[in-house]
Amino acid sequence: MSKRRPRTRHHVNPLGFVREVALPDWRQVFARPDQPLEVDVGCDKGDFLLGRAAQAPDVNVVGLEIRAPIVDMVQDRIARQGLTNAAVVLCNANRSFEALFAPGSLAAVYVHFPDPWFKARHHKRRLVTPAFVDAVASRLRPGGLFEVMTDFEPYAREVAPLVEGHPAFENPHGPGAPAPPEPGRVLTHREAWHESRGDPIHRYRWRRRPAAAPPPGLL
Ligand SMILES: C[S@@+](CC[C@H](N)C(=O)[O-])C[C@H]1O[C@@H](n2cnc3c(N)ncnc32)[C@H](O)[C@@H]1O
Repeated sequence: MSKRRPRTRHHVNPLGFVREVALPDWRQVFARPDQPLEVDVGCDKGDFLLGRAAQAPDVNVVGLEIRAPIVDMVQDRIARQGLTNAAVVLCNANRSFEALFAPGSLAAVYVHFPDPWFKARHHKRRLVTPAFVDAVASRLRPGGLFEVMTDFEPYAREVAPLVEGHPAFENPHGPGAPAPPEPGRVLTHREAWHESRGDPIHRYRWRRRPAAAPPPGLL
C-alpha cells in the first residue's frame, strides 16, 4: 500500500475562494464549549493547533485553512489524537472570519507565517489587510491576544503599524516592540523550520483594548 501523502497545492489564491461558511454552533463542536476560544488562522497541517490544544486542555482551539486536503488531514489528526478541544474549518479567512465567530467571543487570534505573496501584483492576496484587522478587533474580547509572526521583514513592517494604528489594539511591550520570547510555548511548523536555520523571526503580540465607554450623555 502506498504511504505517499496526497498531493496538495502549496498555495491557493484566496481571491478565487468565494464559498461562504455559516456560523457553526460551537456548542456542538467542543466537549467543553464554555472554555475560552482561540483561532489559528492558516493552520496548515495543524502542528500548532494540535500542540496548543494538547498543551492547554482548558481552552478550545479552531484552525482555519483554505486548502481542503489539508483540512481533511487535520481533522484526521484531531480524531486520532482524541482531542475534544480542537477543530478545523475549511474557509477563506478573509471572507469568513466575521461569520464564524460572534462579536467579542475570542480569547486569542494567531496568524503565524502568513503567505507573503512576494510580487507587488499579488499583495492583494495577503491575509492581513486593514479589513482583516478590523474583523479581528471586532471578534476578540477585551484583553484578547492578537499574535502575528513572520520571517518576511517587509510584511512585518507593513502589519505592525497597521495593527498599532488601530484604535482597538495596544502593544503591551511598547510601541513597535517585538514580543519577548515565551519559554515553553508550542512552535508552529514554520517557526521550528526557521529557528533551525537561524532565520530572523518577527513576532508581535498585541492586546485588544477594552471597548470604549459610551459618552456620558448616552448612559
Ligand atoms: C506559510 S503557511 C503557515 C502555516 C502555519 N501557520 C505555520 O506557521 O507553520 C500559511 C497557511 O495559511 C493558509 N492560508 C493562506 N491564506 C488563507 C486564507 N485566506 N484563509 C485560510 N487559510 C489561508 C495556507 O493554505 C497555509 O496553510
